[in-house]
Amino acid sequence: MEYPNYPRSDVRRMICLGIEGTAHTVGIGIVDHDCKILANLMKMIDGSKGGIHPREAANHHAENIVPLMHEALGKAGIEYEDIGLVAFSQGPGLGPCLRTAATAARSLALSLDVPLVGVNHCVAHLEIGRKVTDCRDPTLLYASGGNTQVIAYSGGRYRVFGETLDIGIGNMIDKFGREVGLPFPSGPHLEKLAREGKELVELPYSVKGMDVAFSGILTAALQLHKQGCRLEDLCHSLQETCFAMLVEVTERAMAHVEKDEVLLGGGVVQNKRLQEMVRIMAEERGAKMHVPPGPLCVDNGAMIAWTGLIMHGSGLHTLLKDSSVRQRFRTDEVDLPWMEGRAKA
Ligand code: ATP
Ligand code: FE2
Repeated sequence: MEYPNYPRSDVRRMICLGIEGTAHTVGIGIVDHDCKILANLMKMIDGSKGGIHPREAANHHAENIVPLMHEALGKAGIEYEDIGLVAFSQGPGLGPCLRTAATAARSLALSLDVPLVGVNHCVAHLEIGRKVTDCRDPTLLYASGGNTQVIAYSGGRYRVFGETLDIGIGNMIDKFGREVGLPFPSGPHLEKLAREGKELVELPYSVKGMDVAFSGILTAALQLHKQGCRLEDLCHSLQETCFAMLVEVTERAMAHVEKDEVLLGGGVVQNKRLQEMVRIMAEERGAKMHVPPGPLCVDNGAMIAWTGLIMHGSGLHTLLKDSSVRQRFRTDEVDLPWMEGRAKA
């Protein structure tokens, strides 16, 4: 990737290194003030053997964080001294994983003597998507392994309009995949098999108000599998049912806040059928769908770095004494001075 030839003193102000480590991915992103992504590297623990163990994931992050950082600097073609800001995922997420990323971020910021910014992971998904797809004030459908939320800007905050009441949609897909013998992560395999599906089998459609739930569908799908239901038909039906639920709550949130842009984020939105269903819904409402490139949809360091730059640009940074991790960091707790005047509340 091309590296802009700024004088050193400017470079120090303009480049941010972001560290992501909320769950099973550790990521390092290096981004400049224009959101030029100089490097965006990530490593995920092997989740094929079952649910993720927070301490094992944290050990994985601790082992990989420094090598990944060196590699990212090499990719970006910069030196440590060129970094002007360090950002990290402060929450929400798994305690041991968050603490590993935060410790690395504090050490780096202290040793370079640059400011530190703690970033909300969900807000980072939204901000990177907003920037790279050039949408202004979208409703975000954030569908990943651990998270399923519909978020929009309203009344000066990013608010969660709907979310899963039990497990994230990606975790549900991966659990289903593990039981029926698909490799991990199962999402892409499910998508492929679903294309061969012919029959729609009935699964419990579970929308409660603005929220969704997936564990009942998982139980039902596994039962049908045991009874000999064709796997391709099951994958197809799982997609159709779960994605219809996501589309329904997203559309309701868009209508409620009167927004005409829908932004996708999280690993599950790489699914082409989900994109198609959201696109159709958006078009029918005269709205537009925006999808960031794959590496910026999944958990990554570039989104943390970019959000750090925006926050720093608004005069926000995190003092060491305030840099403890926040496992239950809520999206609507984040101050958004950069949104003022840009989007209608
Ligand atoms: P978070 O901590 O934000 O919840 P995560 O690390 O659990 O994130 P991501 O990296 O955003 O999740 O995404 C991984 C999930 O996306 C996995 O559950 C995986 O099965 C799912 N996934 C990836 N590709 C597809 C696809 N094509 N269709 C459906 N699901 C997919
Ligand atoms: Fe995420």
